[in-house]
Amino acid sequence: MNIQWYPGHMTRTRRRMAESLKQVDAVCEVVDARIPQVSRNPDMDEIAGNKPRLLVLNRTDLADAEMTKQWAAFYRRQGYAVLTTDAKSGAGVAKLSATVRSMLAEKVKMWNEKGQTGRPIKLMVVGIPNVGKSTFINKVLGKKSAKAADKPGVTRGQQWFRVESGLELLDTPGILWPKLDDERTGIYLAVTGAVKDDILDVETLGCKLMEILYRRAPQSLVSRYKIQLPAEDETFDFLGYELLMRAGRKRGFLISGGEIDTERMARILLDEFRGGKLGRITLESPDEYEGDGNG
Ligand code: G4P
Repeated sequence: MNIQWYPGHMTRTRRRMAESLKQVDAVCEVVDARIPQVSRNPDMDEIAGNKPRLLVLNRTDLADAEMTKQWAAFYRRQGYAVLTTDAKSGAGVAKLSATVRSMLAEKVKMWNEKGQTGRPIKLMVVGIPNVGKSTFINKVLGKKSAKAADKPGVTRGQQWFRVESGLELLDTPGILWPKLDDERTGIYLAVTGAVKDDILDVETLGCKLMEILYRRAPQSLVSRYKIQLPAEDETFDFLGYELLMRAGRKRGFLISGGEIDTERMARILLDEFRGGKLGRITLESPDEYEGDGNG
């Protein structure tokens, strides 16, 4: 995914979303459970206004299970309904309908009282690119084929999908942007593969990922790369680079002159992390955001 988030695009999407919002009962935002806050659209609170909100923590197969619980509790405290899913296998997806019904229980009761029993609940599904939104929608619909063919930057008309269980889904009318003005967000999106590597060169990104993993899940580095972690009193100007060198040395990635091929090691690290080979790791925790709605 590589897209220019130009202001015109954002303004148009905002406008179309405001229009679409009038037609729905609630908003369902899909995020990546490894980076729940980073993978949210920064303007969603404002855009969604006071519509009831459901957050889908997707990619739970790649995230730390305990951290996913903490994130779910964090969002529930903020008034969101929460669903945890692995859209690729479909785990959790079947609970969508029940979760939405319970979120909108009051409204459904009111409809029933007015004799509108069986009125379908309309839900707008949103998410920044690559969080797994299309995979999620396809799983909800029970389809195998990927409508995920939509490419970022290509606009299209409204897409309504009818789910058998009295639910109608509206796909985002446009492409939603991530937080754009923040280096940390860019790095987290890049290391998880949500944006293309080329926001940073691969070696720098590998160093950044090493530093994040060293803080979040140091044991994953020990078990995957058999490296010794620096002692508490050891300090490095470039910790991430040092760790890349240690891992590269263990893997025997040498270039002429006996130098370690840190670029190759960085590429391997990124691939293996994205593929879940280092284990289930969540890169940010709710404590970083406690008392704060949107990062
Ligand atoms: P988007 O609409 O939000 O842009 O994302 P999309 O559904 O196209 O999904 C992006 C990638 O993420 C896809 O992988 C998809 O299979 C994967 N994915 C979606 N949900 C999950 C999940 O819960 N767990 C895991 N592990 N992966 C998920 P891809 O490599 O682009 O395609 P493919 O390898 O599946 O063919």
